[in-house]
Amino acid sequence: MADFGRADQRQIPITGDIPPVMAALRARLVDGDAVVMVSGDPGYYSLLDALRREFPSECLSVIPGLSSLQFAFARLALPWHDADLLSFHGRRPPDESLAYRPGRIIGMLTDTKYHSQTIPELLMRLGWPPETKAAVCARLSYEDEKILQTTLQKAVTEEKETHCVMVVTG
Ligand SMILES: C[S@@+](CC[C@H](N)C(=O)[O-])C[C@H]1O[C@@H](n2cnc3c(N)ncnc32)[C@H](O)[C@@H]1O
Repeated sequence: MADFGRADQRQIPITGDIPPVMAALRARLVDGDAVVMVSGDPGYYSLLDALRREFPSECLSVIPGLSSLQFAFARLALPWHDADLLSFHGRRPPDESLAYRPGRIIGMLTDTKYHSQTIPELLMRLGWPPETKAAVCARLSYEDEKILQTTLQKAVTEEKETHCVMVVTG
């Protein structure tokens, strides 16, 4: 994990176990400040949601970040004002939200269950044509970033990418 703190600063790694993080923040805020660092934008399927449930907005100063979705659309040179944005990260959007429409663009966050192979399978089952353009954008902004432009049908047998962004263009 990258280390952005000074030696005299107390650091708490943020794992999936959020309550201890909130307890430590609450204790710290009694007489000081704390910085919560996350990747991407804190307001998009990130920690801001939990922080807002714990602390009043006046306590929070949010610095926006570049979301992985925004980054992916930029890499694909694709405007995203008409795109629908969905998350498969730890959740499964309802079938109605995934319906096929010619020209429909969807940008998706993914995880280990719903990834670059299983999402294309699901979309084809829901009526998306197999030749639909599908982009797999993995490890965005890192040295080993990978952008694969393929189709739904081909994506199923391409190398599996989890925790990536997928963009489909119907
Ligand atoms: C909990 S969500 C956080 C999203 C984050 N708030 C954002 O704005 O990008 C985690 C998901 O974001 C996507 N993601 C985060 N970093 C990424 C990266 N560097 N490259 C591709 N996708 C990424 C993946 O779909 C990952 O499973």
